[in-house]
Amino acid sequence: MIMRSQPPLLELRDISYSYPDHDSPLLEGINFSIHKERIGLIGPNGSGKTTLFQIIMGLLKADTGEILLEGKKMETEKDFQQIRRRLGLLFQNSDDQLFSPTVLEDVAFGPLNIGATPAEARNTSISTLKQLGLEGFEERITHKLSGGEKKIVALATILAMHPQLLLLDEPSNNLDPETRERLITILRGLNQVHIIISHDLDFLASTCTQLYAIEKKTLVRCEEKQVHSHEHIHPYGNQPHQHGT
Ligand SMILES: Nc1ncnc2c1ncn2[C@@H]1O[C@H](COP(=O)(O)OP(=O)(O)O)[C@@H](O)[C@H]1O
Ligand SMILES: [Mg+2]
Repeated sequence: MIMRSQPPLLELRDISYSYPDHDSPLLEGINFSIHKERIGLIGPNGSGKTTLFQIIMGLLKADTGEILLEGKKMETEKDFQQIRRRLGLLFQNSDDQLFSPTVLEDVAFGPLNIGATPAEARNTSISTLKQLGLEGFEERITHKLSGGEKKIVALATILAMHPQLLLLDEPSNNLDPETRERLITILRGLNQVHIIISHDLDFLASTCTQLYAIEKKTLVRCEEKQVHSHEHIHPYGNQPHQHGT
């Protein structure tokens, strides 16, 4: 039997991007593919990490290069609608993601938007909230939630769409240690492949299998041992541990 190798879930080929009002490109010659890896993405502030997520989602159009979803080139707006359906982007700021009066309405918005009936959207939303330990939050007023609760609800709004790939933009920022650990446990328990932008290397070590960095405008794969050495220090991420200075 001939085994055909599966195309990557997502592939970027020679992606470059400049903001219109900038002289030099922000990102250049980015090549990348993801099958089932769980990827951490690091890079200095302003290096273009968030911009790269926006390019992948089709919210910004690359100047050069191609984006392929399961081997299919994404070109038209319809293609990118497909990408936005199958990839879930968690914004750096939860307030950009949550806009409905109640938690249930926020989580049900996505499923309703892609054609679920109100009953289906309600059921999916309730079970997603339950999965994330937010049972009983359905009627809570979204804008009154704590920052940590908002982050988990924002994740619920994405998971309710059952995306194949999660793009998480600095998810552990400003979380208290307990919520941060909770998020680690949630992410480790999910089936979805993910790319996580973070400066929090221990968070990435606990949730990712590979590390990439944006360096000199392009994406480079970091040495495997950089992730593994952290994993050996904090195997489960939630055990008491001390950090060096
Ligand atoms: N809409 C925009 N128009 C012009 N420049 C932008 C815009 N958004 C971001 N930038 C600039 O592009 C650079 C990269 O931003 P960003 O992708 O947010 O970086 P990161 O997420 O790595 O911190 C920054 O210098 C930022 O100021
Ligand atoms: Mg950013």
